Amino acid sequence: MSSSPTQSISLTRYLIEEQRAGRINADLRLLIEVVARACKTISIAVGKGALGGVLGDAGTPGVASMNIQGEAQKKLDVLSNEILLEANAWGGHLAGLASEEMDTSHPIPDVYPRGNYLLLFDPLDGSSNIDVNISVGTIFSVLRCPDGVTNAADEHFLQPGTQQVCAGYTTYGPSTMLVLTVGNGTHAFTLDREVGSFMMTTRGMSIPEETKEFAVNMSNQRFWEPPMQRYVGDLLSGKEGPRGKDFNMRWVASMVADVHRILTRGGIFSYPLDSKCAPKGGKLRLMYEANPMSFLVEQAGGAASTGRQRMMEVQPTGLHQRVPVFIGSKKEVEAAVRYHAEHD
Ligand code: AHG
Ligand code: MN
Ligand code: MN
Ligand code: MN
Repeated sequence: MSSSPTQSISLTRYLIEEQRAGRINADLRLLIEVVARACKTISIAVGKGALGGVLGDAGTPGVASMNIQGEAQKKLDVLSNEILLEANAWGGHLAGLASEEMDTSHPIPDVYPRGNYLLLFDPLDGSSNIDVNISVGTIFSVLRCPDGVTNAADEHFLQPGTQQVCAGYTTYGPSTMLVLTVGNGTHAFTLDREVGSFMMTTRGMSIPEETKEFAVNMSNQRFWEPPMQRYVGDLLSGKEGPRGKDFNMRWVASMVADVHRILTRGGIFSYPLDSKCAPKGGKLRLMYEANPMSFLVEQAGGAASTGRQRMMEVQPTGLHQRVPVFIGSKKEVEAAVRYHAEHD
């Protein structure tokens, strides 16, 4: 599937076309529109930077506000979470929400109607980049709520990534872009700030199967498992080495920015197990980082793995479960998986 330029099709029109084709229903269409509208609000807050009083840590001076991840929350983490909660409270599409920034899943207030979907999100991804004006983003995933459940509990969210009906992210970079899949390809929309609409700018993002670009935090190298050491060592040995080509490296420390680059021009992104994060299962979170990104990447012809298992087949055991991540150009992910298989 090659990506193609497109005349100005708005997100709204694209979603109506998907509904008319029977691939989504009205509730899911409206849910996606609500999330996109909330991301526009987040984009405005991010864009104000220091002028909007949104930089820096949440909490009070000297008393950090910690999330369940054990991370000190940024003001934008908290604000983005509140924007998404408020936007999704009254729409009637959801039976519950889950977020990186909330300990447990969050019910829909009793005063509002409920629906059949579960929304999971990382409201602000790449928080360490907020105060240094580097791209950050929002990641979201939509699951169906099990039949007969109107008030979801944590266990109702614990579905493998293959059960997702929608996944997307918004990247707040030089332009604000929404990248979305409802299971019929991965498509990119750019925010037209004058009109206030997301306009389709790429129909059918397509990841080259091969790449010469990898994204990993090299400062963890000495903590990696042996297969990861060998895999990256071979990448770094260039065309004289077993991989036979010279690789370039990028690391933004915003998963959204790194994965967006990979969806746009190929590459492999990895946050593997290391002896520091291994006791927790990894660094990145399965339900609202790895799974939505995996759905988007697979729909663009790429691959996503824990290094030992297709990401979207992992059976979740916890809302904030962490996993090792290898995601991007299909043949490069397959190579990384081979190194693990040969070692195990
Ligand atoms: P978040 O800001 O939502 O907590 O996610 C940060 C993640 C991910 O976006 C990024 O790829 C990774 O953490 C960066 O980790 P390091 O700071 O260890 O490089
Ligand atoms: Mn965080
Ligand atoms: Mn994140
Ligand atoms: Mn986050």
